[in-house]
Amino acid sequence: MKVRTSIMQRVPIWDLPTRVFHWLLALSFIGAYVTGDSDRWALVHVTCGYTVLGLIIFRLAWGVVGTRYARFSEFVSGPSPVISYVSGLIRGRPSHYVGHNPAGALAILALLLLGLISAVSGWMVYDDVGGDWLKELHDVPPFWAKWFNVECWTLEGLHEEASSLMLALVFVHIAAVLISCRLHGENLVRSMIDGRKRSEVNQAITTNRPVVALFVLASLIGFWLWSFSDTLRDTEAIEFAISIEDRAKHFVNQMVKLSDSFPYLVINRNEDQF
Ligand code: HEM
Repeated sequence: MKVRTSIMQRVPIWDLPTRVFHWLLALSFIGAYVTGDSDRWALVHVTCGYTVLGLIIFRLAWGVVGTRYARFSEFVSGPSPVISYVSGLIRGRPSHYVGHNPAGALAILALLLLGLISAVSGWMVYDDVGGDWLKELHDVPPFWAKWFNVECWTLEGLHEEASSLMLALVFVHIAAVLISCRLHGENLVRSMIDGRKRSEVNQAITTNRPVVALFVLASLIGFWLWSFSDTLRDTEAIEFAISIEDRAKHFVNQMVKLSDSFPYLVINRNEDQF
């Protein structure tokens, strides 16, 4: 929604579930990305990936039933608002929007789509589901096959490409946020933390929906505990085994020292053995 008048204050715009979603998505995407190449961190990678998937599914639902500025109907628009926003941006005078601006909204939709493709393809690779449907796409006319290099298309490839593209878009997103902060003279990062943006008072949302945010957080903590429960148990078992082994070694060392102090006993013992 475009802002018209000049009597403005910082009022609640982003509800709590939207903010919780945003920062958890940022964390879990980065977590999944940096652990992607390591066997040692595979469980963290997979858990972050499922978290991305769960969060995006939640956000798709919240885009329908959430508060005013979280709804897709509020910020998804046709091409003409995007074009007029971008031309204003080029002239250095972009319109100020209470919710997402039309160009930002496009990037957000692309981030959600790429996150979805990346997480679903990762799940299909990890759980070996989906069969060879991607390979069937290889049966395209030779011209297209050569043009799009379809021989190289695999689920793993799709997973990696979608993740890399998402990372590139995240950088664009962060740069765009920082540029918008400068052009609008407003700290948008702070807005994604405290939920407030500069606007007319009557444009504010009336509820923050904390219970929904709590539900998202609790589900996530529950999922992470469940996901790592076996590993935690294994770790405890390994630590226990190591401590028993250490105690046993310590006991044997003490016995050896003791027997060294009584050569007579040792000699006798050795003689007994023979
Ligand atoms: C992996 C990193 C990130 C991802 C995947 C991501 C994704 C998103 C998404 C999906 C939204 C839409 C929020 C919604 O309506 O639900 C959004 C908005 C936003 N993000 Fe990020 N984000 C990331 C990192 C960051 C960082 C590091 C910052 C701070 C510099 C940031 C600042 C913002 C702001 C200010 C908005 C609101 C933009 C507006 O006013 O229209 N994001 N981000």
